[in-house]
Amino acid sequence: MKFDLRSFAKGAIAAGAFALAAAPVAAKEFRLGLITPPPHVWTKAAEAFGAELAEKSGGKHSVSVFPARQLGNEAQMLQQMQTGALDMAFMTVAEVSNRVPNMGAFYAPYLANDIAHAAAILRSDTARGMLDVLPMEAGVVGVGYGSAGMRQILSRGEVNSADDLKGLKLRITPFDPILDFYNLLGAAPTPMPLPAVYDALANGQVDAIDMDVELINVLKYHEHADTLLISNHMMFPMVGLISARVYAGLSAEDKAMVSELMAKHVDSTLDVYVAKEGSWTEALNNVGKTVKPVDASFFGGVMGEWEKIWAAKAPSLPDLRDTAAKLK
Ligand code: BEZ
Repeated sequence: MKFDLRSFAKGAIAAGAFALAAAPVAAKEFRLGLITPPPHVWTKAAEAFGAELAEKSGGKHSVSVFPARQLGNEAQMLQQMQTGALDMAFMTVAEVSNRVPNMGAFYAPYLANDIAHAAAILRSDTARGMLDVLPMEAGVVGVGYGSAGMRQILSRGEVNSADDLKGLKLRITPFDPILDFYNLLGAAPTPMPLPAVYDALANGQVDAIDMDVELINVLKYHEHADTLLISNHMMFPMVGLISARVYAGLSAEDKAMVSELMAKHVDSTLDVYVAKEGSWTEALNNVGKTVKPVDASFFGGVMGEWEKIWAAKAPSLPDLRDTAAKLK
């Protein structure tokens, strides 16, 4: 079912009509949660969004940003947004796909050739249309996409072929599309949130991690690894979310201002990754890692098998593949 922000707003007004119509246009201090640390691109974008919202609303609205899981993990933040206890979040699409499996389509291996292609796919009408069901299925309004780059594999030991991944304890973000990818490869995927990753790699609890080059640099994961496979095997999108309950209580003017500004700042992260992915990768060459570029052929028949599993769970997958092919 297609979700239309305008009908949603009308429905909300019909439901609580008198109270909302009579309410004065209230100033609001929005609370925005994220799991990323303060120096991360998403956190900086959230702060820039808050600053611009304060400016454009003439100081009427403000945003308090809570980085580094201060308000809980993403599953907890999504739940808080459903009840209206949390106003906003910049969140991995990975977490949203745990509630709305169709979003798993974004993780089709090699859907995007590189980070610029990923940005174009995330800006497409097909991708935007996939946000329409979020108010109904997850209790949140999705305003647009950002990114945390492409996924790579960083390993403590040598990895020369996909066979070397077999049995490897490999840290993954906790969500199904990536779990399936590594299970199909015969690895031992180990779901683990970001804060646990550095120590797990340092003490050998995991042999390898699935990660992006920004965080490998910023959080210095390379200190405890030898091989970096620049595989670009998946994109890693982010989505700007507003609690549907909170959104319904805003005036039409505030709805437009808040969602347009949030969309602008989540979108800005796409440009940051396009501009910086190369230099982040280069920086890892300079710290003496073995850096090996690999492509889809490295992973053998796994892509076809992944596609079979996810075609059933993510009806948007063929459309997204078509869109990706047109944007090449
Ligand atoms: C991760 O789980 O690897 C991750 C989460 C948020 C931003 C970047 C990476």
